[in-house]
Amino acid sequence: MTSHRQHHIMEGRPGTTVILDGKKYLYFAGTSYFQLHTHTDVIQAAVDATHKFGMGSATTRIMSGTTPLLQSLEEKLANYFNTEDAVYLPSGYLSSLAGLKALDDLGLYDIIFLDEGSHYSLVEGAIATGKPVVYFRNRDLHDLESKISEHLDSGKCPVIATDGLFPVIAKLAPIRDYLDLAIKHQGVVWVDDAHGVGILGAHGRGTCEALGARSDKIYLGATLSKAFGAYGGIIVGPGNFINKVRTGSVMAGSSSPLNAAVAAAIKGLELVQENPGMRKMLWTNAHYLIENLGQLGITSESKFIPEMHGTIPIASFSSGGAKNMKLIHNYLMEEGIYIQYTDYKGAEPGGVLRIVVSSSHKKVEIVRLTSALTEAFRLFSS
Ligand SMILES: Cc1ncc(COP(=O)(O)O)c(C=O)c1O
Repeated sequence: MTSHRQHHIMEGRPGTTVILDGKKYLYFAGTSYFQLHTHTDVIQAAVDATHKFGMGSATTRIMSGTTPLLQSLEEKLANYFNTEDAVYLPSGYLSSLAGLKALDDLGLYDIIFLDEGSHYSLVEGAIATGKPVVYFRNRDLHDLESKISEHLDSGKCPVIATDGLFPVIAKLAPIRDYLDLAIKHQGVVWVDDAHGVGILGAHGRGTCEALGARSDKIYLGATLSKAFGAYGGIIVGPGNFINKVRTGSVMAGSSSPLNAAVAAAIKGLELVQENPGMRKMLWTNAHYLIENLGQLGITSESKFIPEMHGTIPIASFSSGGAKNMKLIHNYLMEEGIYIQYTDYKGAEPGGVLRIVVSSSHKKVEIVRLTSALTEAFRLFSS
């Protein structure tokens, strides 16, 4: 029996199949939603940039480390997200810290109301601002309203901070409702949409676009390390805000990023922009996965909602407690299929089984997964 471990060694490239600990698996995990991390053009761009510019510029952005590659990436990001400006950061993990600090520098909030299902980076970023942080229950408007009335002093403004797409539970934040509440209290909304950008929305601008939440009161951070096949964090928005990020401590204190990562990000962004068919393929696969899981009685939020222009390529569910889910997970591994069993931030106590589909998966692979799951459920039904 394969034992359950958190860390497997990936020997080789990520893809729809991977080698983990020396064995080949059909792979339904990771975040390379379009499998761009191994796209020939992305790799070539990274190699060419490294030859031309070296690994990095060996200084900070704020000194002399802003390269033409970075300028080009940030222009393309602003164009992609249809914002005045954009900035690239050393990692997505830092985007919430840098973004919340910049909003604070602009005096846009006094207190942070934080969806408690949010990613580690958002929780730690919020705490690191030194501003008061009040948690509210995941996606619970009622709780948010009562926390606001309890903790927001008169004359003070809130920022409501949340993930866009919660990656472990595969659900979207009710951003329009958060926005209404923020506006009602003269505040703003901060969204970490690491998983939504590139895949959701008519133009792939993420959860806000998918939910029709567009407002100058919404501020957005994300990552290029998932759908865009590269690496690094981003923040997009109005010029004065982005300038605050550019001159803030996160940027001022970090070395300029790897040229390979920047060039790969430019190429990944171009590929996503020029190939909307990839997004359609992802939605088709996600839809097919959810349909197949539905036949097993596994339901998910990831249903196709036409007005959302997309569907979530993640299915997440619990089944009979931790012990049972580990048995299911291990059975699938024996069958040469890898899905996640995880207790990552946002999971229910006891963890969840989590399946991620990409635009490159074949229908027959999805069928292989759901057939194996059917057998696992039969063997380990609780
Ligand atoms: C919601 C969320 N925010 C931020 C991050 C961090 O992004 P990065 O890996 O680019 O540092 C992740 C995961 O990687 C994430 O899932």
